[in-house]
Amino acid sequence: MKRKLLVVGALVVVLAVIIVLLTGRGKSDTLKIGTIMSTSGPVSHFGTQCRDAMLLAIDEFNARGGVLGKQVELIAEDDEKNPEKTMNALIKLITKDKVKVVLGGLTSDCTLAITKEAQQRGILLFTPTSTNDSVTDAGDLIFRACFKDSFQGQVMAQFAIENLGAKKAAILYDMNNDYSTGLMKSFEETFTAFGGTVVASESYAGGDKDFNAQITKIKAGDPDVLFLPDYYNTISLITKQVRNQGLDVIMLGPDGWDELVGQAGEEAVGGYYCNHYSPDADDPDVVEFVRKYRERYGVTPNALAALGYDATYIVLEAIERAGTDDPQKLKAALMETDKKYVTGHITFDANRNPVKSTTILKVVKGADGKLTTEYVGMVNPE
Ligand code: PHE
Repeated sequence: MKRKLLVVGALVVVLAVIIVLLTGRGKSDTLKIGTIMSTSGPVSHFGTQCRDAMLLAIDEFNARGGVLGKQVELIAEDDEKNPEKTMNALIKLITKDKVKVVLGGLTSDCTLAITKEAQQRGILLFTPTSTNDSVTDAGDLIFRACFKDSFQGQVMAQFAIENLGAKKAAILYDMNNDYSTGLMKSFEETFTAFGGTVVASESYAGGDKDFNAQITKIKAGDPDVLFLPDYYNTISLITKQVRNQGLDVIMLGPDGWDELVGQAGEEAVGGYYCNHYSPDADDPDVVEFVRKYRERYGVTPNALAALGYDATYIVLEAIERAGTDDPQKLKAALMETDKKYVTGHITFDANRNPVKSTTILKVVKGADGKLTTEYVGMVNPE
C-alpha cells in the first residue's frame, strides 16, 4: 500500500513538472517587451526594418547576459498601419502577454490611437518614430526617440528660404492624416514668418492615387518649392505626376520620404528631405550600427531601423538603471537619459521629447544609376 502511494506521489511530481514545462511557466524568466510595428501594409518597409533593429539590439543585450539577469523577449505585433488594429494589438499585449513596456507605434496616426489607453492602463509606451507633436501629450508614461514635426517642418521651410533662395512655396498634403497636417502647418508658419509666400496649399485624402487636379492648381501659382508631407508610397506617385505635368519645382519633404530612393524613379532626383540620421555618416556609432545591420539583414538600415535600435537601447538601459520594468520607476530612470546613441545625443525635455538634431539629405542618382541620398547638412534645435 505504502509503495503504491509512493509511486503515485512520484507520478504526480513528474506530471506537475511536465505541465509547468508545457505551459511555458518555466519561461517566465524572460523579460517581455511588446512592440507594435506596421510590418505589412503601405509602409511595411518602415515597420519591418524598425522591428528587425529592435531584435538586433535585444540579441546584443541577451548575448551579454540579458537585462536584470533575464533574457529579453520581444513580442511583436503587426497593425498594418491601421489605428484600430494598433489598439487591438495594445490590448492583446497588455492582457494576454502581460507586458508593461511597449515600443511603438510606428506612424503617428497609429500611435495617437493608443496613447490615452496606454497611459490609463499604466503602461510605458515608447515610440521610436512617431513625430506628430501631440504624441506625448496623453501623459507621463509616453516617450519617443525622435524629434517632433514642428521641428522638421520648420527646418525644411528655413532651408528652402535660406539655402535654396525660395520665395514662393506650395504645399500638397493629406487632410486626414495627423502627421501630414501637422507638418503642413509648421512648414507654412515658418515659411511665412521668414518672409516667404505660400502660393498654393492643396490637399487630398489618404489612399488617393490621382493628384493631377491639385498639381494643375499648384502650377498656376508658379512656386519655387513644393512641400510634400507624406510617406514614400504616396510621394512616389506624386513626384511622377508633378514631372508629367512639366512642373519644374524643387520638392521638399519630411522623414516619411525615407525609402523613397528604393521606390521612386528619376522624378524624385533633386528633392530634399530631413531625416533622423544618414547611413553614410562617419560617426563611429553610425558606422558600427550600419555594419552590424547589413551583416545580419543584408540591407542598409533606414532611419526607422536606427530609431528602433536606439529606442530599444534607451529603454533597456533605463530598465537596468531602475532595477525593474515597473512603468512608474522606469519613467524616472528614462528621464535621466543623457547619452549619445546612433541617431544622436539623447536627453528628454519635461514633456518626454528628446532634444536632438536632424539631418538634411538630397535625393541623387548614384554611379550605378540607382537613386541614393547625399548628406547635405545637420540642423540643431535652438
Ligand atoms: N515620423 C513618421 C510618423 O510619425 C514615421 C517615420 C519615422 C517615417 C522615421 C520615416 C522615418 O508617422
